[in-house]
Amino acid sequence: MEGTVEDRLENSPQHALEKLSFDSFFQGETRTFYAPQSFCSRTAFFMHHFRYTGNDLHCESVNLAEVARLYGTPTYVYSAATMTDNYTRLAKSLSGLDLQICYAMKANSALAILRHFANLGAAFDLVSGGELRRVLAAGANVKRSVFAGVGKTSEEIELALQNGIFAFHVESEPEMARINHVAGRLGVKAPIAIRINPDVDAHTHAKITTGKSDNKFGIPLKVAGAAYEAAAKYPNLRIKGVQMHIGSQLTDIAPFVEAVKKVTPFVAELKAKHGIDYFSIGGGIGIIYRDALASGSAEWWDAQPAGQRPLTPEAYGAALVPLLQPLGLKILLEPGRFLVGNAGVLLSRVEFVKRGSAKNFVIIDAAMNDLVRPAMYDAFHEIVPLHRDTSRPAMVADIVGPVCESGDCFAKERSLQQVGEGEYVALLSAGAYGYTMASRYNTRGMAAEVLVKGSAFELVHERESFETMIAGERVPAFLK
Ligand SMILES: Cc1ncc(COP(=O)(O)O)c(C=O)c1O
Repeated sequence: MEGTVEDRLENSPQHALEKLSFDSFFQGETRTFYAPQSFCSRTAFFMHHFRYTGNDLHCESVNLAEVARLYGTPTYVYSAATMTDNYTRLAKSLSGLDLQICYAMKANSALAILRHFANLGAAFDLVSGGELRRVLAAGANVKRSVFAGVGKTSEEIELALQNGIFAFHVESEPEMARINHVAGRLGVKAPIAIRINPDVDAHTHAKITTGKSDNKFGIPLKVAGAAYEAAAKYPNLRIKGVQMHIGSQLTDIAPFVEAVKKVTPFVAELKAKHGIDYFSIGGGIGIIYRDALASGSAEWWDAQPAGQRPLTPEAYGAALVPLLQPLGLKILLEPGRFLVGNAGVLLSRVEFVKRGSAKNFVIIDAAMNDLVRPAMYDAFHEIVPLHRDTSRPAMVADIVGPVCESGDCFAKERSLQQVGEGEYVALLSAGAYGYTMASRYNTRGMAAEVLVKGSAFELVHERESFETMIAGERVPAFLK
C-alpha cells in the first residue's frame, strides 16, 4: 500500500468522523493545566490517544510523567478524546438502526466520565440505586436509562420510578412481583423488559460469561414466553421491551450473531403479542489488552492477518444491523468496556527492584486493591515505562504490588526495560473495571483520577485520605 499511514487515513471513510469528533472535543471545558499543542494535529488518526512523543508517554497532548509528579501515584488517567472516538465510531457503525446507547456505567462511573457520555448523547445502563444517584450527581437524567441487576431492592425500585427510569431489566418472576408492588404503591405503571438468557457460549472468561443456562442471569429462552404472559397479568407493569447480554470481552463476532439469530424470532413474536418497543442486545465488545499500546495506531490493525483481526465496531455493525433492522424496533446497546477500557491507564511508581537468584521482582506502588483484574480474572495488562530509554537493556521480572497477598501480582516473568526506584510505569487498558472494582484492602485509600482533554488535564477525583477512609467508623463505648 502506498503513502504514509496519515495519508491513507486522511483518505479513509472513517476520517470524516474522526475529524468531527476531534474538533468537537475542544468545545468549552474548563482547562486547568496545559501541555504543548504540537501533538494535537495528529491525534484524530488513532484508535486511542496514548503514545510516546519523543521518549515520554503522553495521553493526548499531556505528558503522563507530569500528571504523576503533580498528583502522585497510583493515579488513573482517562482520555476524553478516546472515549469520544469510541462512542462516535460505535454509533456510526450501527447507523440505520433506531439506536439508544446506554453506557454500562459499572465499567467506570466517575462523575466526569458520566457527564462526558451524557454530553455525547448517551443514556446509562445502571445496576444499583447508588449508580442511579451518580447519574443525577453528574447532572444527567435517567429518563432514557435502564436499570439491570438480579437483586433490586424496593427502595431502589422506588427511586428509579420517581426519577422516570426508561425501563427495568427484570431477571426473575419474584422481581417482577416486587416491581409491580412498588409501582402500585406509588400509583404508576412500571416499564419493564425481561432479560432472556439465550444459552449461548460467549467463549470468554468464565467469570464474565453471562448468557449460558447455568448463569444466574435472565430467564431461559424456552420459558421466556410464559414469563411475558405472567408479566402481562400484573396491573402495574407495562411491557416495553426485551433484553439479553451474553458476556464481556468478546473479540469474535460469532457468539453475538448466534445469540441475535437465536432470539430474533422470539422478539418478533413479542412485538406482535405485547407491542414491545425495543430490543436491548447488551454490551460485551472486547478490547485489546496484550498489544494495548500498539493497537492505538491504525497500522497495528492493518497488520493483523485477515480472519484473526479482533472485533471492531465496524464488523459488529456490519454483522448485526441486517439481522436487527427487519425487527422495526428501537435497539438498545449497553457497551461498557469498549467505550472506556482503552481510554484509561493506571500510573504507578517503582518502589523497589528486588533481585533474587531465581527471579526479579519490580515492586510498584499500585496494588490489587487499585486494579483487581489480574488477581481476579488472570487478566493481562501491558505495562510500559513513562520514560522510554532504548539504551537500557531489558529485564525479566514479576511486577507486583505491596499488598500482603501472593495474588497481588500484575505480571509474571514480564520483559520490560530496566527500571529503577522512583521511576514511573503505566498499566494500560485500565479504564474499564479498574477504579470501579477497587477496594481499600490493607487500608490503602482509593487512587486519584484525572481526565485529559487535548492539552488540558484536571483532577476529577482526589486521592482518598486516611481521615475520609475511617470517617464512618466508631469504637463502641463498651470497649472504652
Ligand atoms: C447486562 C449487562 N449489560 C452490559 C454490560 C457491559 O458489558 P461490557 O462492559 O463487556 O460491554 C454488562 C456487564 O457485565 C451487563 O451485565
